[in-house]
Amino acid sequence: MEIAWEIASEKEWRLDAVLFFVFEKSEETLPGLKSFLNGTGSWLTNTPALSDFKGKRNEVAVFYAPSGDGAVPRVVVAGLGPIEKFEKDMLRSAAAFALRKCRDMGIARAGIPLSALEDLPCGPPDCLREIVTGAVTGLHCYTGLKTKNSEPPKAPDVLLLLSPARPEELLAEAVALARADAAGIILARDLTIGPANRVTPKFLAERAAELASKFGFRIETMDIQAARSIGMGAFAAVASGSAEPAYMVTIEHAPPGTENDDPIVFIGKGITFDTGGISLKPSAKLEEMKHDMAGAASVLGTLEAIGRFGLQKRVIGILPCTENMPGGKAYKPGDVLRSYSGQTIEVISTDAEGRLLLCDALAYAAGKFKPALMVDIATLTGACIVALGKEIAGVLANSEDLARFTCAAGAKVGERFWALPLWDSYFEGLKSDVADMKNVGDRSGGAIVAGVFLKQFVPDGVPWAHLDIAGTAWAEKDTGALPRGATGFGVRTLFEIARTWASKKE
Ligand code: BES
Ligand code: ZN
Ligand code: MN
Repeated sequence: MEIAWEIASEKEWRLDAVLFFVFEKSEETLPGLKSFLNGTGSWLTNTPALSDFKGKRNEVAVFYAPSGDGAVPRVVVAGLGPIEKFEKDMLRSAAAFALRKCRDMGIARAGIPLSALEDLPCGPPDCLREIVTGAVTGLHCYTGLKTKNSEPPKAPDVLLLLSPARPEELLAEAVALARADAAGIILARDLTIGPANRVTPKFLAERAAELASKFGFRIETMDIQAARSIGMGAFAAVASGSAEPAYMVTIEHAPPGTENDDPIVFIGKGITFDTGGISLKPSAKLEEMKHDMAGAASVLGTLEAIGRFGLQKRVIGILPCTENMPGGKAYKPGDVLRSYSGQTIEVISTDAEGRLLLCDALAYAAGKFKPALMVDIATLTGACIVALGKEIAGVLANSEDLARFTCAAGAKVGERFWALPLWDSYFEGLKSDVADMKNVGDRSGGAIVAGVFLKQFVPDGVPWAHLDIAGTAWAEKDTGALPRGATGFGVRTLFEIARTWASKKE
């Protein structure tokens, strides 16, 4: 579906359907509709059809113009729920529902009047960004592996943004941001939902190479022998049980003039399947462990967004990619690994593999790039799901300021984060008799302990945040704009962090 501006007055609209977003009914006229009802939509005023519509969340209704009345044959209204409970993701999901309705009706040209956004609480640019993101991502489905009835339903040809005058800069930028968000989210979702026999470490490395050639990023793909030879003993240990070749991929976006800036580094956990290794997981829902590369997918999605948007910042993505398998050469509980940082780690559980990839990637990034900021993102602990549930991701950061900044960046784009503490006392449980630390402690505070483990590999002075998306990367049921399965969670927040970190300083 194309997104295009249409500079036209109401009378000049040539559409199959015009879309409005409205709050759950108060006594007043539905706010967004007002000017339309006073103009070419007067046929709809005071009709029972309109008063039957309640404006509940994601409720969608279609009203048909009496033949010959008005230039637009259909009015699609989507409900946002009560105004007091408004949050941005309601716009996203209402847009998704409205566009799916248009698709089901086989509509070619749908349009949204910008005037209708003026009554919404978050301001026209932010509203527009949410709507366009929801519309595009809401129409996307992963159908590539079906051989029957596999034609994806045909989306509308174009979503027109209707405005009587040329849009101001901020609105144009909002659409560019939304396009970038949507492309990034879709990439991340497709990679994450893809099965592990297709989405292998090699496949991720190839997609990274594709991105690099599309946007002119620099890319370096280190195979596992190379990684081992430079000392990445923890990453190499995790890879050793798998027959699939493993890779540490580094992608760098450095637009001309930024090459010498201290970069923002994003590191994504890329376990393409997590069996648990020798500490084998139980088989219930094991198929879902194909999504253990959602962190890597969200970093690639972020780079897609950054490339599309043309962000003028130096940003580096690092993706340690491997399976976690119990092969004959697999690493074992009790093994002691020498990490890239030189610190030694006693393996207690081979199922706590994510932190072993990340600890080498963090130490490598800090040593090689002098980062202005490092953020890692990972489906790291079931304990984070226990603590925060499936809709909120955990943040562990080495300064309170950065934790706050991360939560605020998420809130700005409609992703929820909550900070957990990173006190050093949590290291007690990781003390080992034979090595510098163990890779797990007892079960208590598991998400925090994982964060404290990672902290050992981040040099003092490097701002660092760890995002635990174990709960939010995968949805068991449809929610709002998103169908069940991969959510692409994190893409929008990382993109927002990349856009705003440099200008943050208080
Ligand atoms: N990939 C899992 C965490 C996970 C669980 C992600 C559920 C998404 C949904 C991770 O590698 C893992 O197995 N973590 C263990 C850590 C434990 C051994 C300390 C866990 O959470 O049980
Ligand atoms: Zn894992
Ligand atoms: Mn695991």
